[in-house]
Amino acid sequence: MTFSRQIKIAPSILSADFANFGAECRAIEAQGADWVHVDVMDGHFVPNITFGPATCAAIRPHIKGVMDVHLMITPVDAYIEAFAKAGADVISAHIEAGPHIHRTLQAIRNTGKKAGLAINPGTGIDAVAHLLDMVDLICVMTVNPGFGGQKFIHSQVDKVRSLRKMIGDRPIHIEIDGGVTVETAPLVVAAGADVLVAGSAVFKGGSVDNPAPYGINIAAIRAAAEAAA
Ligand code: DX5
Ligand code: ZN
Repeated sequence: MTFSRQIKIAPSILSADFANFGAECRAIEAQGADWVHVDVMDGHFVPNITFGPATCAAIRPHIKGVMDVHLMITPVDAYIEAFAKAGADVISAHIEAGPHIHRTLQAIRNTGKKAGLAINPGTGIDAVAHLLDMVDLICVMTVNPGFGGQKFIHSQVDKVRSLRKMIGDRPIHIEIDGGVTVETAPLVVAAGADVLVAGSAVFKGGSVDNPAPYGINIAAIRAAAEAAA
């Protein structure tokens, strides 16, 4: 994974057909997805349960590009190895998931994977100031984690702008997660984001048997984003 700030669209399979993950991953990549965002939820850190390492391992052969695993779980350290073995390329942990985030990021890096740090809407960027040498990606949540289809929290745009300044020219991606649409994508890209997670805005109107809407949705988000870059 060579670093570039070029806009990347990362559809979240939380909005995909849970009975057809492999086919859905193939479909979104064929329709233009750059990364595949995999939302792991434990029903403890967030009020929802999705899937674990076994599902990640099962979909890995169906993903040609980057498998971007978002761990909304606590505790997290005990599971890092399993997600790395399952084939994740990026493993993001939440800074709120426990008291030792520096150790968690070290553990992710020790697996040879890219280390991501996810921060909830209520967490300020001062919390990441001493972690910039430990991360390859910072995921700014623009919804409270747990569900797709929620409303974008506009107050986070200023956070993205300040984070972009803090990062400077370090090779760290700013990923936006939650409520990304053709309307909100330009706001966060203008503020400095380069990876856009989108679940409902990509999967709406399409299906494994009718994937064309996925391509139309991805292209529309990408066009809106690139116009603001
Ligand atoms: C929420 C997840 C997001 C979510 C995005 O906890 O981390 O990735 O699936 O879904 P939309 O794009 O529909 O807000
Ligand atoms: Zn996510």
